[in-house]
Parts: sequence; C-alpha cells; structure tokens
Amino acid sequence: MSERPLILVTRTLMPDAEARLLRSFKARLSADDVPLSTQEIIAAAEGVDGILISPTDRLDADAVTALPPGVRIIACHSVGVDNVNIEAARRRGIVVTNTPDVLSAATTEIALLLMLGAARRASEGERLIRGGNWKYWAINFMVGTEMTGKRLGIIGMGRIGQLVAKRARGFDMTIHYWNRRRLPPELEGGAQFHERIEELLPQADFLSIHCPLTDETRGLLNAERLALLPRGAIVVNTARGPIIDDEALIAALRSGQVAAAGLDVFTDEPRINPAYLTLDNTFLLPHVGSATRETRTAMGIKAIANLEAFFQGDAPPDRVV
Ligand code: DGY
Repeated sequence: MSERPLILVTRTLMPDAEARLLRSFKARLSADDVPLSTQEIIAAAEGVDGILISPTDRLDADAVTALPPGVRIIACHSVGVDNVNIEAARRRGIVVTNTPDVLSAATTEIALLLMLGAARRASEGERLIRGGNWKYWAINFMVGTEMTGKRLGIIGMGRIGQLVAKRARGFDMTIHYWNRRRLPPELEGGAQFHERIEELLPQADFLSIHCPLTDETRGLLNAERLALLPRGAIVVNTARGPIIDDEALIAALRSGQVAAAGLDVFTDEPRINPAYLTLDNTFLLPHVGSATRETRTAMGIKAIANLEAFFQGDAPPDRVV
C-alpha cells in the first residue's frame, strides 16, 4: 500500500482492532457508536476506499448501488452477510468479506446457554427471586426439561453447528442435522443427516438454528414445521431472527407444542415482538452470540486483515463476493 487507503468504520471497534486499523489505514471513525441509517452510511462513505460495517448496518440493493464510486470493498464485522445485498455488490464490482471461524466458540457457548436457560426456566427463576416472590422450595417447583441424553436437531451444520454438536455430545445428546449438503463422516461425528427438514424435526427434542438468513431460510421455522417437533420441544436461535416465523413460535409457546424458546436474535431487533416478553417460557438475550472480548477482538482483526489483503492486491482470506 503506497498511500494509506481511507476506511469508513461505522461502529466502534475493540481497542486492539482499532489500533491495528489505524496502523494500516486512514480511518473515518464513528463519533458516538450510534447505529447509522442507510442514508447516513452512504453520505459518510463519500471519498472513502472501503467500509467496515457491522450487522446493524443495512445495505440493500439500492444502497449498494448508491454508494460513492470510490468504495471498492465492504468488510463485514460479522459472519452473517444478510445485511448487504450481495448481488448488487457483485454487479458493482465491490468485494464483500466476512469474519467466519473466530466466533464459533463464543456463539456455541450462547447456544448452549440458551438451551439450558430455556429448558431449566432460568429467566422465570431469576424474575421470581428479583421480584421477591420466592416463597418456598417444593418438589414440583420450577420443574423443567432435562438436556442430558436428549436428541438435538441442528439446522445448518456449518462451523457453528458442528461445534454445537461437539459440545452437546458432552451432555450425551444424540445429534440429528439438516444441511444443504451432507457432511463427510469425519465431520459428521456420528450425527444423523436428514435430507429434509421435515424428517429432522420429529427427532428434535431440542432444536438449534445455525443456518444463514437467505431468501430460502426466511420464515423456515413456520407453523407447519413447528407442529412436526415432538410436543414439548425446546427451540433455540442464535442465527438470525427472521428464520423463525414469530407468530407461529409464539402460538406454539402458548399451546405447549414448544415448551420453551431461547432466543438471541430477533426479527427487526432491537424492536422485538412484544409477545415474547409476556411469555414465561422464553429466555431472551440481546444478540450477544459473539460478544466476548476475545471474539469481538478477533472479529475486528479478521475484518481488518481482509481489508489489508485487498489493498495490498492479495485475495482477501474471507471473500464472500
Ligand atoms: C455474526 O457475526 O453474524 C453475528 O451475528 C454478529 O455477532
């Protein structure tokens, strides 16, 4: 890199990542770390060579088309790239990169936390104590569902799905999965592949979602599919909110078809369907799957490494398009 390229960074990075960014690039940093609207991103991108964005930034086809002509790369500080219209970027010749791998362990921890929290009624118990309403212990008090030895259904057996399966085996769970392609036996680790989601669901005492949000997966877990789960199943989502049809899940939580749900991601977050808040059998987190010091730093560094490679004329390691 002869002259240091100028990068628009829409949100505040972890300190080590920001330090590395500033060693390699000139940067237009976020003043207050408040999420920008699409129009604000387009305006702020005037004169920059690349943009480092996070999942709160939405660049649909019109926005990608409207980006100033100097923008040559969009480095996503996320593994999910559903917030960027990839086809529009391809048409404009803008490179898009993401941050896979480094967040798998942290996201897996949150998936397990959600499974346990939902199955063992963690939110309800917390509310009871904090509200001063815990009167006495009883044999049938706060009785939940046991995770140990149950069948875990995984939708999307990529890096995170595989790690969830590995950790869940520590709870003696039997793993079933659906994926676009069957994994080779060494990655399957004995998990049972189902070619159709409809075949997986009846096997899933616990169901954990790990597929990307695409046109095909939007609304994937709908009323018909929820009805295929064993009655009293636990549903967990650390992927993207719109993969679940909220009204269908809320109805299933009310009827007992789904005993409890653990959700870290929501349609239109941070505005979430208010019904989730009124249900005792939900365990809710504010999209913190990758939120550890280690992982958020590693994600930032990965996003910057992609920018560095690109501006040095090399292939960015995590190029999506
Ligand atoms: C991702 O990387 O896609 C996460 O949802 C952001 O933490």
